[in-house]
Amino acid sequence: MTQIPEEPEGKPISASRTTLSHIMTAADTNLLGTVHGGVIMKLVDDAAGAVAGRHSGGPAVTASMDEMAFLAPVRVGDLVHVRAQVNWTGRSSMEIGVRVLAERWNESTPATQVGSAYLVFTAVDADGKPRRVPPVIPETEQDERRYQEAQIRRTHRLARRQAIRELRERRIAEGLDED
Ligand SMILES: CC(C)(COP(=O)(O)OP(=O)(O)OC[C@H]1O[C@@H](n2cnc3c(N)ncnc32)[C@H](O)[C@@H]1OP(=O)(O)O)[C@@H](O)C(=O)NCCC(=O)NCCS
Repeated sequence: MTQIPEEPEGKPISASRTTLSHIMTAADTNLLGTVHGGVIMKLVDDAAGAVAGRHSGGPAVTASMDEMAFLAPVRVGDLVHVRAQVNWTGRSSMEIGVRVLAERWNESTPATQVGSAYLVFTAVDADGKPRRVPPVIPETEQDERRYQEAQIRRTHRLARRQAIRELRERRIAEGLDED
């Protein structure tokens, strides 16, 4: 008989919320002299990965990254803070919301938001197969709003994937495209 694993106990969002901070140097710049978007994306993926690992209690892989927005340039000498938390959980996947803030490393001016992103991580077992994650427990009204917004994004991601799959299958069946 197939064993259906029990749903793990819920975990509050605050249990895995994480901030990763890093000072930008000349090694992080693009040809324009500002910080390369890919450097920020790596930090975003690292912070989100730490949150996903902490929430799920084991390995988790990046399944998708969407709505990565760059709101203002990041410069050499900026101290960048990447704040990440679980917004939503499914069966084996988690949406991680990330905010990127920057402040001058040697000034006491307030940090400004320079970016944001939503990533989906899937918890995997030793064979790389999806495994169950604890349901996340929103603790504040803001957490609750983020949870509801994440559900909307999840619905749209699934619908878009399904619509594209169906279009491709239809075009192949009509001989318009190759497999
Ligand atoms: C992510 C991965 C484990 C999913 O495996 P799969 O066999 O397709 O599993 P499923 O279709 O059952 O999906 C498992 C969960 O992930 C979610 N998921 C899978 N692909 C997704 C995508 N592209 N976007 C959003 N969610 C996704 C599913 O919705 C499902 O969520 P749920 O269990 O909460 O309902 C697999 O595609 C993988 O290993 N990808 C490579 C990941 C990686 O190496 N990342 C680093 C890149 S260098």
